[in-house]
Amino acid sequence: MSVKKVAILGSTGSIGVNTLDVIRAHPDRFQVVALTAAKQIERLAEQCIEFNPAIAVVADADGAAQLSRLLQEKKISTQVLYGPGALVSAVTESGCDTVMAAIVGAAGLVPALAAAQAGKRVLLANKEALVMSGDLFMQAMKAGGGELLPIDSEHNAIFQCLPDRFTKNPLDHLGVEELWLTASGGPFRDMPITDLANITPEQACAHPNWVMGRKISVDSATMMNKGLEVIEAFWLFGLPLNQIKVLIHPQSVVHSMVRYRDGSVLAQMGQPDMRTPIAYGLAWPERIDAGVAPLNLTQLAGLSFSEPNLAQFPCLSLAFAAAKTGGTAPAILNAANEIAVAAFLDEGLPYLKIAEVVERTLNAVPSVSAGSLETILSADTKARQIASDFIRDIR
Ligand SMILES: NC(=O)c1ccc[n+]([C@@H]2O[C@H](COP(=O)([O-])OP(=O)(O)OC[C@H]3O[C@@H](n4cnc5c(N)ncnc54)[C@H](OP(=O)(O)O)[C@@H]3O)[C@@H](O)[C@H]2O)c1
Repeated sequence: MSVKKVAILGSTGSIGVNTLDVIRAHPDRFQVVALTAAKQIERLAEQCIEFNPAIAVVADADGAAQLSRLLQEKKISTQVLYGPGALVSAVTESGCDTVMAAIVGAAGLVPALAAAQAGKRVLLANKEALVMSGDLFMQAMKAGGGELLPIDSEHNAIFQCLPDRFTKNPLDHLGVEELWLTASGGPFRDMPITDLANITPEQACAHPNWVMGRKISVDSATMMNKGLEVIEAFWLFGLPLNQIKVLIHPQSVVHSMVRYRDGSVLAQMGQPDMRTPIAYGLAWPERIDAGVAPLNLTQLAGLSFSEPNLAQFPCLSLAFAAAKTGGTAPAILNAANEIAVAAFLDEGLPYLKIAEVVERTLNAVPSVSAGSLETILSADTKARQIASDFIRDIR
């Protein structure tokens, strides 16, 4: 068994820490060769001291100086780099064969694309990369010749429910009729939208089933997350949008399903613990211990499924609309959402204004064909400016 060399983009985040947890249990299988963070320098230093990667990357020069100091004290020889360009170096110069793409938001796009182009095994948690540049990203994967394994639990579940040969055949040829993405519905699933005006960041981040980073937790509450996942599924699996469905499933036990032409529905079930899809991606096609407690179906009170109420979750409708429009519309949606969620978390933008900012930005920035990275990044920049202006007006 050869040892896999792993670069973790976003190692200080929720997915990054869970990835290191799985790797820690399998030192015979995995070696960490690059770790990256933005602001959590001390946490990154602890990770470098434990895993001794060749390269560590942080956001800026101050962070790099602090990290270098902390590592020198412990005589750790990791090379410390900083800035967005260094994230690409972590992929291309660390000697990795596997890249966990777990930076949150658009900041993860360029290094994830670099991993695709370089033919790595890409473990894709950073759904925003596919939302922004799905066509380009899938083309880069094809040209690079690497393997793409989805880490988002829903997409990982669908991957597990498809035959091995799905990457070489359109799903239609394999008898797939529909993909069903499950959604917990978040912490406000049963609350009327009129009761949500004074929701605080703490309430929005208190997800009933999953422990995640703050941005994705808010996206789960608004269900923008599920909208982004529909777009992600569209690119990953190549099925038309009208064959990708969302089902509310409050227990988060069935992580997603595939409905086949012959009447079969295949589901993947498990604990709501990201170490399962992470271990699956790291070891695929083998299965390894993920440190996850076994699922005991007899202890579950029941499993329920229902259609989402779009009037209660305007962000989900906006994502469906952007997906239908195509071109740069999903990148515009994503950028406006990132700005609005950050303003909600840090500056007190009212919770219900997140959808309003996204909608106004989508109306203000025209969608064009997403043919190049430059076009996509320019739509992203424009949308961020416009969304920030709207937020200033609102407050
Ligand atoms: N958490 C989950 O259960 C889950 C499930 C499915 C999919 N995902 C997806 O996985 C991705 C990561 O989610 P998460 O929950 O792990 O997020 P998170 O806990 O907020 O962690 C994000 C990571 O990205 C780094 N980062 C943030 N901004 C950056 C920037 N501008 N440049 C470079 N690095 C930056 C952070 O560094 P610092 O912390 O050092 O600032 C951190 O390491 C997201 O795309 C999310 O949608 C997450």
